[in-house]
Amino acid sequence: MKLWGGRFTKETDQLVQDFNASISFDQRFWRQDIEGSIAHVTMLAKQGILSREDRDAIIGGLTGIRDDLESGSLEIDESFEDIHSFVEATLTERIGEAGKRLHTGRSRNDQVALDMKLYAREEIRLLDGLLKNLLQALYHIMEENLDTCMPGFTHLQKAQPITLAHHIGAYFEMFRRDRSRLQDIARRMNTCPLGAGALAGTTYPLDREYTAALLGFDGPTQNSMDSVADRDYLIELLSALSTVMMHLSRFSEEIILWNSNEYRFVELDDAYSTGSSIMPQKKNPDIAELVRGKTGRVYGALVSLLTTMKGIPLAYNKDMQEDKEMAFDAIDTTKGCIQLFTGMIATTRFNRAVMESSAKKGFTNATDAADYLVNRGVPFRDAHGIIGNLVLTCIEKGCALDDLSLEEFQAASSVFEKDIYEAISMKTCVEKRVTDGAPGPEAMRRVLEKYLEYLKD
Ligand code: ARG
Repeated sequence: MKLWGGRFTKETDQLVQDFNASISFDQRFWRQDIEGSIAHVTMLAKQGILSREDRDAIIGGLTGIRDDLESGSLEIDESFEDIHSFVEATLTERIGEAGKRLHTGRSRNDQVALDMKLYAREEIRLLDGLLKNLLQALYHIMEENLDTCMPGFTHLQKAQPITLAHHIGAYFEMFRRDRSRLQDIARRMNTCPLGAGALAGTTYPLDREYTAALLGFDGPTQNSMDSVADRDYLIELLSALSTVMMHLSRFSEEIILWNSNEYRFVELDDAYSTGSSIMPQKKNPDIAELVRGKTGRVYGALVSLLTTMKGIPLAYNKDMQEDKEMAFDAIDTTKGCIQLFTGMIATTRFNRAVMESSAKKGFTNATDAADYLVNRGVPFRDAHGIIGNLVLTCIEKGCALDDLSLEEFQAASSVFEKDIYEAISMKTCVEKRVTDGAPGPEAMRRVLEKYLEYLKD
């Protein structure tokens, strides 16, 4: 059963066996393990380290195991220590002697480093696709809401008018950066650790360039100790995932606020909401809350792996087996959250009328009213004071700036004329903001053109 029984005189204690084993979780990368082994023996045969017959027998055996695991006719036996042991033992059981030559010039240390890299690389590709779907959903909302006025907030207080497209666009930028972060990681990690052996390379004439090329890497890693001891790419990945989750969590928080009875900016689709067992009227944003909540798990994985790695001397140490469960959980969680969030946001209805009237009610045009005075020669600081006083009057009267009479405006400053109403209408306030990155539809249209190009590849 074991890959290492030779120098032992006793059976492992059962609790030790259970504590030490990783097969319950590392079985998830059986595909990568087999793919790595096939590349390894292909290289061994090319180098004359393994005969062609043995190579063919091993590849035939491994392919058979892969097919049988795929179809479900072979089940992973969890009494093995890890997936590497299971695959090798099953191979030898199936093809005999040749199977015992598979592990020539290899250690589980470089093998597991390879498997985890292959797994992470594939997951990054999947994550990238999910983020792209989310960006596509956001693009669609932006396209339809270039003119949808809403209040922009600072300190959660209404600040200045923006558009829904612009608000959503802020998240587009965040998730776009997330994709580029993942792409950076994929690029940086794309070196092949196989051939590093346990820590000091091997004495066989391995062609590491060749194995690396077979597995789609840019080349082999350059230091065999670092190859088996490096989990930087996982830390980077968990950090990037933490950032994705932080973005999703902020967005979820806004959706929860916007969906509240007080805001009513949005209505979540029934398919993405849940009810209460006691309160019949309830329609709760559980999905957004769960996304917000699950963010903690992903942060936890990052801190956990950083902590695991911080005291490990070179080279491989068993502590590093702990990388897997946390990375798997963080990857699964983030993928699930992106997918759920995409479905939720794509089906959300935006209450345009409520958003527009909310923008009107919160004095979001006060800055524009001050700018009106500035454009007519009043120093900004004076204009600020004049409008501040008018806002106070409005609060007392329970009205908006737009509701004041021309006389009331002129009592505050003789500079006001009847074009003030036009100048502080929501439409004007938004439309005049046309510098790069501003919410005005004209500026946003230019940005959307770029986003459309970006989404093409
Ligand atoms: N299960 C181990 C891991 O995940 C595989 C490597 C084992 N190597 C060793 N020398 N015990 O890290």
